[in-house]
Amino acid sequence: MRYFAPLVLLAGLVSSKPTPTVQNATLYLCSDSTAANYNPATTPIQGFGYYLGNYLSTNFVNRARGGRSTRSFINEGLWGQLLDMLVPGDYVVIEMGHNDNGTPGTGSDVGKDRAVVPGIGNETVTVTNSTGAEEVVRTFGSYLRQMIKDVEDKSATVVLSGMVPTMSWSSDNKTLATVWPFTEYARAVAEEQKVPFVDHTKYSVARQQALGYTAAKAMYPLDNTHTDAAGATLNAESFVTAVKCASGKWKLKQALLGNNPNATAVNYPCA
Ligand SMILES: *[C@@H]1O[C@H](CO)[C@@H](O)[C@H](O)[C@H]1NC(C)=O
Ligand SMILES: *[C@@H]1O[C@H](CO)[C@@H](O)[C@H](O)[C@H]1NC(C)=O
Ligand SMILES: *[C@@H]1O[C@H](CO)[C@@H](O)[C@H](O)[C@H]1NC(C)=O
Ligand SMILES: *[C@@H]1O[C@H](CO)[C@@H](O)[C@H](O)[C@H]1NC(C)=O
Ligand SMILES: *[C@@H]1O[C@H](CO)[C@@H](O)[C@H](O)[C@H]1NC(C)=O
Repeated sequence: MRYFAPLVLLAGLVSSKPTPTVQNATLYLCSDSTAANYNPATTPIQGFGYYLGNYLSTNFVNRARGGRSTRSFINEGLWGQLLDMLVPGDYVVIEMGHNDNGTPGTGSDVGKDRAVVPGIGNETVTVTNSTGAEEVVRTFGSYLRQMIKDVEDKSATVVLSGMVPTMSWSSDNKTLATVWPFTEYARAVAEEQKVPFVDHTKYSVARQQALGYTAAKAMYPLDNTHTDAAGATLNAESFVTAVKCASGKWKLKQALLGNNPNATAVNYPCA
């Protein structure tokens, strides 16, 4: 984590008003258990947000919370809390999808209230949620559009990120899945709304595929979703790679990584 002094503008033109550029943005991470912080003394699992700040040129605040989806992050007020912290020039990375799966209002969604309607359209389903209230549940894309607007209303920059994979390998254990629906929804919404997208999925999959099934599996001590510290570090580094390799006009590499030497040392090819 680095703190930058405000940019000093050398006033060449006496009459021009200096632009108050404060090089002290904070990046907030909105995500789930795959990114959350865990106490290393009490569990072998760790989320990538625990390490991500070490690679950034911005300040970093990890607001990832286990078990949350776009829908429940908003409904439980976690999103409102994040928005309240934003100041103009900040960044918000939204990486969701692990808990957005499922059928709203039925089966395993009862009591969790987190499944969304798949896709990015405007269709809805109305369910009775665990508070007994009727809730209009929207698509993943619809929640993301709301979040994008909320961040832009605060004059901050939103970055959509593809979720990290789980241990979903082919039956011969040779190939880790490369296509993740919630990543594709996020990518499509980013294109539609003209906001930056970082393909965290692709670069995490590439690293784990290069390790192979057995070495990758060793980073998932409890289940097939949650990594240990090594897996969290891999996922922090693959986020850095995704930022370096992101396309578009946003200059994310410069804005988020600057010349942080830890980020410079992460050297994997763009694909
Ligand atoms: C930069 O941000 C940090 C953390 O929010 C804050 O403590 C510090 O005062 C800020 N510095 C400037 C120069 O704005
Ligand atoms: C680089 O990472 C180390 C931990 O590995 C951390 O202590 C250090 O603060 C990081 N450097 C920067 C500039 O963020
Ligand atoms: C969804 O609704 C928004 C806002 O009303 C509208 O701009 C957009 O075109 C709609 N998208 C689709 C796929 O119908
Ligand atoms: C249940 O639905 C109501 C009405 O939409 C909503 O305000 C509330 O946040 C929902 N509760 C949960 C736990 O999702
Ligand atoms: C794949 O890995 C699983 C879990 O370690 C193991 O049970 C299974 O036998 C492996 N399959 C093959 C084809 O090697």
